[in-house]
Amino acid sequence: MRIRALRPGEAPALLAIFRAAVRVTAARDYAPEQIQAWSPAQWPPAQCERWIERVRALHPFVAEVDGVAAGYADLQEDGLIDHFYVSPDYARRGVGAALMAHLLALARERGLVAVHSNVSRSAQPFFARFGFDVVAQQRPLVRGIEVPNARMRALLGGRDDH
Ligand SMILES: CC(C)(COP(=O)(O)OP(=O)(O)OC[C@H]1O[C@@H](n2cnc3c(N)ncnc32)[C@H](O)[C@@H]1OP(=O)(O)O)[C@@H](O)C(=O)NCCC(=O)NCCS
Repeated sequence: MRIRALRPGEAPALLAIFRAAVRVTAARDYAPEQIQAWSPAQWPPAQCERWIERVRALHPFVAEVDGVAAGYADLQEDGLIDHFYVSPDYARRGVGAALMAHLLALARERGLVAVHSNVSRSAQPFFARFGFDVVAQQRPLVRGIEVPNARMRALLGGRDDH
């Protein structure tokens, strides 16, 4: 497995990972209407384009297994992890762990004191495993439907704890 930057033309593969991760993995923890709001079964081309533009702007990292993109995640300048998705085809094989190790190392390199994310129910045990604590329960509206998540934060302890 290796973690690398997104390649040109690869964002549609990330959309496929996102859609499968929501509709297969996260669907275990949310009602069908919440999943439909988060990632509709059908995506019109314009919606795909908007998603791709947004995710490209996040400069995500891709976890590649045997030459195939298996998951992706990003780290923004302010410590926000906006997207964190692993394909259900590669679930529980350490892909998420490798991505998280990469993000946390990068955050320390950048001198960030904390990283944070709005974490789905499905991903909360995973984030907790990597030192994140819940700082708030949230009930954001997605396409008019409540899709609860938790704001989670991991303190990095500054530059001295390498
Ligand atoms: C959360 C997610 C990224 C984890 O990816 P993954 O590659 O399957 O995770 P890993 O295999 O690296 O898991 C590492 C450890 O995290 C913990 N973990 C991962 N998934 C877990 C789960 N569903 N329940 C409990 N612990 C879990 C375990 O300790 C695991 O180690 P183990 O498999 O040896 O027990 C993935 O399940 C996912 O994409 N979920 C759906 C999308 C989503 O909700 N994304 C987050 C939006 S904020």
